[in-house]
Amino acid sequence: MTGQADGDGVSRRDLLGRTAVAAAGAASATVVPGAALAAGRPAAGAAAAAGAAGSEATIEVAMTVNRRPERIRVDPRVTLLDALRDRLALTGTKKGCDQGQCGACTVHVDGERVLSCLTLVGTVQHRSVTTVEGLADGDTLHPVQQAFVDCDGLQCGFCTPGQVMSAVALLREGHTRSDGEIREYMSGNLCRCGAYNNIVQAIRSVRPGPRSR
Ligand code: FES
Ligand code: FES
Repeated sequence: MTGQADGDGVSRRDLLGRTAVAAAGAASATVVPGAALAAGRPAAGAAAAAGAAGSEATIEVAMTVNRRPERIRVDPRVTLLDALRDRLALTGTKKGCDQGQCGACTVHVDGERVLSCLTLVGTVQHRSVTTVEGLADGDTLHPVQQAFVDCDGLQCGFCTPGQVMSAVALLREGHTRSDGEIREYMSGNLCRCGAYNNIVQAIRSVRPGPRSR
């Protein structure tokens, strides 16, 4: 059972083995960014170098992205963020730090928010991914997107896709009982422009129940 090939011709053992190498690399990218920078290359480069031995192996990943079935063949070290941006041309999801610190890359997997820069694409096999491109209904913005517009919840806009994806999940999670709770549960999403007050105002305007503080 363990080494049995699935319907896509990739055995579970193969996938686990390859992703373990990639996960080790990704973990080092998270915990030693300073060391990687000191070595003169980005942390992600260190991860790639660590897994270079298996660089010719690829896996096929089938997933649903914004309600559309997608199937891509990738190096198992590829993150969900890079797969979305580079393979599926969904560039709404932003790469800020690429090491789990800024929240710009937030997307939903099976309805839950995740940092796509720390998620290997192989781990979303047969799962449902939603990006900021999948929120609107045609020309009608998602209520949270509209609230960000109405409340000026952005300045340069770079962090906004991640903020919006986190806010949509936050509303589902029910962590909007006070401004303090909103700030706490949005604290993984950084905004260099400092639009925090208006972001909280936008979320408050669409939360169920009282609209005031
Ligand atoms: S790009 Fe993923 S947390 Fe910053
Ligand atoms: S609006 Fe510029 S980083 Fe948030």
